Amino acid sequence: MTERPDRGTTERPDRGTTAGPDRGATAGPGRGTTAGPCSGTTAGPGRGTTARPVIEVRDLWKSFGDQEVLRGINLTVLDGETMVVLGPSGCGKSVLLKHVIGLMKPDRGSIIVEGNELTGLDARELKDLRMRFGMVFQGGALFDSMTVGENVGLPLKEHRGIKGDELADLVETKLEMVGLAEVSHLQPSELSGGMKKRVALARAIALDPDIVLYDEPTTGLDPIMAEQINELIRALQCKINATSIVVTHDLHSAKFTGDKIALMHDGRIELCGTMDDLRRSDNEAVRTFIARGHAPAIGSTADARPTDSEVFE
Ligand SMILES: Nc1ncnc2c1ncn2[C@@H]1O[C@H](COP(=O)(O)OP(=O)(O)OP(=O)(O)O)[C@@H](O)[C@H]1O
Ligand SMILES: [Mg+2]
Repeated sequence: MTERPDRGTTERPDRGTTAGPDRGATAGPGRGTTAGPCSGTTAGPGRGTTARPVIEVRDLWKSFGDQEVLRGINLTVLDGETMVVLGPSGCGKSVLLKHVIGLMKPDRGSIIVEGNELTGLDARELKDLRMRFGMVFQGGALFDSMTVGENVGLPLKEHRGIKGDELADLVETKLEMVGLAEVSHLQPSELSGGMKKRVALARAIALDPDIVLYDEPTTGLDPIMAEQINELIRALQCKINATSIVVTHDLHSAKFTGDKIALMHDGRIELCGTMDDLRRSDNEAVRTFIARGHAPAIGSTADARPTDSEVFE
């Protein structure tokens, strides 16, 4: 296991100084046309060509019964980069994320996180490695029996043993980072859908993770709330400088949050590159997804969301 420096705060120094080995098809960071709030600064992605791979998925296969869901996934995410995994509902995006965080075991293939082969780790080592992840689960996965503050504080209490005023202060800091001061006493049932997503985000970054995985962070939100969450994700990426994977079926969210986009189709990554690469691609699966795949968020009206041509402007 690689030791991590104690960062203590939510700010972190530039980590991307070591040249990486084989970066596969996703070599080279760079924000292409997706420039966001981090561009033009030294923090965040797009820090030249020296970023090392933090997550490497190689030839990953997974079946449930006779249903082959992952059929040889290859994906590399570089230090500080935000990789969007885009694909239609049911194509295996959540299953892929669960493999990356070690919640599912592959039938075959390899997942290397910070140089550690996940499939070779014992339960204890896996648990230690998971401490370096923050995950925003599809649907939020907040505990309804706990207050907002208890939800956000749970990882700090369980894994760092933090209590009392220190815990309350840290919880408040994390909630402020997602624009939700003074709600820690509320129950999740008293929050709107967008607020719940924010709380889930605050909990995901509670332990100052190196890696943040977002599973459908904007699904189920109205367009305005979805946009706020997209903006929040980018702002957090600048602030905590984590390496991230954002899983979505929403092209607009993909464009806004991603440095690179990986399009999943038929159990494989069909294309990995910038939004421009996606737009220029003549790959049939990519064209089909772009033509049909701009699924509106549940509960929103399709015409209230940007059209594909707006997304690609
Ligand atoms: N634990 C499981 N046991 C059996 N089948 C599963 C399991 N988890 C996922 N699947 C199946 O794997 C396929 C991919 O599921 P997954 O949840 O990854 O889709 P997804 O791309 O995340 O879809 P969505 O966009 O709707 O969230 C689905 O057919 C699903 O039924
Ligand atoms: Mg899913």
